[in-house]
Amino acid sequence: MQQIQLSENIYYVGVNDRHTDLFENHMELPNGVSYNSYLIVDEKVALIDPVEANFLEEYLFKVKSVLQGRKVDYLIINHDEPDHSSTVAAVLREYPEVQVVGNAKTFAPLEAFYGPIENKKIVAEGETLSLGNHTLQFFMAPMVHWPESMVTYEQSSKIVFSNDAFGGFGALNGCIFDDQVNLAFYEGEMRRYYANIVGKVAMQALKAIEKLSTLEIKIIAPSHGLVWRSNLAWVIGKYTQWSKQESEEGVVIVYGSMHGNTARMAEIVARGAAEAGIKEVKVYDVAKTEVSFIMSDIWKYKGVIIGACAHYGSMFPNMTLLVHEINEFKPKDKCYATFGGMSWSGGGVKTLAKYAEEGKWNLVADSVEVKGAPIREEDWDKLYNLGKAVAEAVKR
Ligand code: FEO
Repeated sequence: MQQIQLSENIYYVGVNDRHTDLFENHMELPNGVSYNSYLIVDEKVALIDPVEANFLEEYLFKVKSVLQGRKVDYLIINHDEPDHSSTVAAVLREYPEVQVVGNAKTFAPLEAFYGPIENKKIVAEGETLSLGNHTLQFFMAPMVHWPESMVTYEQSSKIVFSNDAFGGFGALNGCIFDDQVNLAFYEGEMRRYYANIVGKVAMQALKAIEKLSTLEIKIIAPSHGLVWRSNLAWVIGKYTQWSKQESEEGVVIVYGSMHGNTARMAEIVARGAAEAGIKEVKVYDVAKTEVSFIMSDIWKYKGVIIGACAHYGSMFPNMTLLVHEINEFKPKDKCYATFGGMSWSGGGVKTLAKYAEEGKWNLVADSVEVKGAPIREEDWDKLYNLGKAVAEAVKR
């Protein structure tokens, strides 16, 4: 059986998930996701980050096919979240003598999920664990993505097992390594993962990158998505850019519309932005496109324009989730504007403005609220100029 090796005696034993519709039960997975796990076979055997429980049988088959009857000595837990840890209890049943390795914050949540763990080893920042010819070294990466998150560095091969950091959506379609694919696809799915999972802790992600920059790294092996061995500077550059919130020239227009009138307004706003010279204008109907995709583009682009029709004195319901996510994740340094339809009650635009104030959005144009449809010239001009104003602010 052909095994996938990252380096001598270091194996990929991850699985693809093409079944789950929603990651964390709220983010769509049209391209699936991978749960990566790694096995180091030396005088001692270390298994790094198990996988999601629905893939237990396939996972144990892969582990056993590499080990050929040998046992696992150490189970390294870089992160407790169940997409990685929900096979822990099963791995412990399969290998009852395994020692579970985590840091001071790992075991309380892990035992809360899966019950008492007797044989555990708590490691501290920079501590090492020899496997024979390979030596693991542990570095804390708090909040990337949970408080207990850490990364594991293997000193002889110079591989960093980064868990969620540098991870992305998208199952691995026969490929494992970054030099086996067209990166454009994985860049989009990696940014969507970043914007919706890691982006809230961008500063901590930046600190983790700075910490790793002191190590010589030949391979970055995350727990989702591609293993990076050829485009390290590129992926570290992208991650740094997203963590510093350095956005690109472009405008994202998101609307919520019950009867199509706010949708018509969005088209006029988009014309204004495009005519002002923005080549990347993205228009989304918040009722059609799941929020994680919209958040990904909001993270990417400098201009954000949100339009919502009124709904019982407030705004279009589906828009509430997007605005909540924006306030939670706080994408910074954006050029914002808002617009929408009054219907019979008004209030959609007012509610957006309230959120803008709370979220400290940088409003670069007066909000436009239109009665009924955008059929009057003055409304048309206001909407067109709103798009143009945001575009000009983005270009500045
Ligand atoms: Fe992939 Fe935060 O778990």
